[in-house]
Amino acid sequence: MALGLAGNAVDLQDVSFSYDGKNYALKSVSLSIKRGSSTVIVGTNGSGKSTLLKIINGLIKPQSGSVKVFGIDINSHQGMDARRKIGYIPQQLGLLRNSTVLQNVLVGGLSRMGSTSALFGVYPRQEIDYALKCIQQVRIDHKLHEKVYRLSGGERQRVAIARALMQKPSLILADEFTSDLDYKSANEMMGFMSEFRRDGVTLVMVTHNLDLAFEHGQTVIFLKDGAKVSEIPAESLDKKGLKTLA
Ligand SMILES: Nc1ncnc2c1ncn2[C@@H]1O[C@H](COP(=O)(O)OP(=O)(O)O)[C@@H](O)[C@H]1O
Ligand SMILES: [Mg+2]
Repeated sequence: MALGLAGNAVDLQDVSFSYDGKNYALKSVSLSIKRGSSTVIVGTNGSGKSTLLKIINGLIKPQSGSVKVFGIDINSHQGMDARRKIGYIPQQLGLLRNSTVLQNVLVGGLSRMGSTSALFGVYPRQEIDYALKCIQQVRIDHKLHEKVYRLSGGERQRVAIARALMQKPSLILADEFTSDLDYKSANEMMGFMSEFRRDGVTLVMVTHNLDLAFEHGQTVIFLKDGAKVSEIPAESLDKKGLKTLA
């Protein structure tokens, strides 16, 4: 693996991004995220949280500033190596509705399986075994052959997590993936994610729920109108004082 061993999981320097060339969705954002850490990004609707995750993932390219993941410029040619190590759970989950749980999770491994698997849906035995392991980890194995459109919101979110795990990621970017859940289930789901840190995985999760952010982030980053307004170690947060921010 060409990824550098030293340095942070994510380094953003002065990143600005505009969808339309007029309004800035991100304004001069700088941040560093340590390997193996858990960071939660909070902010109101439209504050730039989803845009920030897409920038880290290389899905969109900033007009100015630099984005490094594991020390590699995500928008450079070698950025592909870094992208393969990112498990991205988009806000809308991006699952194949008419495919089964197992088929959806297998998609997460396609980048290492090659085009035969992608075109014909023929998967190596060890990849199927690994998919089953990921599915068991998020406890959705009882719905293995169920089509996604038949699942509840919470079950779909488990499938999206399993698909991300299938990528064998070093960094997971999860965008409001618990928004369909009640507090207790969302808390459980974010707890799941935190368990993956035992394997050295770096977690970046977006939520608009401050209580969840306090519970699961080591660092909480606040966005407002596309700008980073503060970055606070979770244990030092004054919950009462900050509730008004989100
Ligand atoms: N595809 C898009 N095209 C144009 N504007 C967008 C697009 N996606 C987001 N925006 C705008 O960028 C800003 C930040 O959006 P977003 O990152 O989705 O915020 P959040 O995830 O915090 O709700 C908002 O003003 C939003 O309207
Ligand atoms: Mg969003």
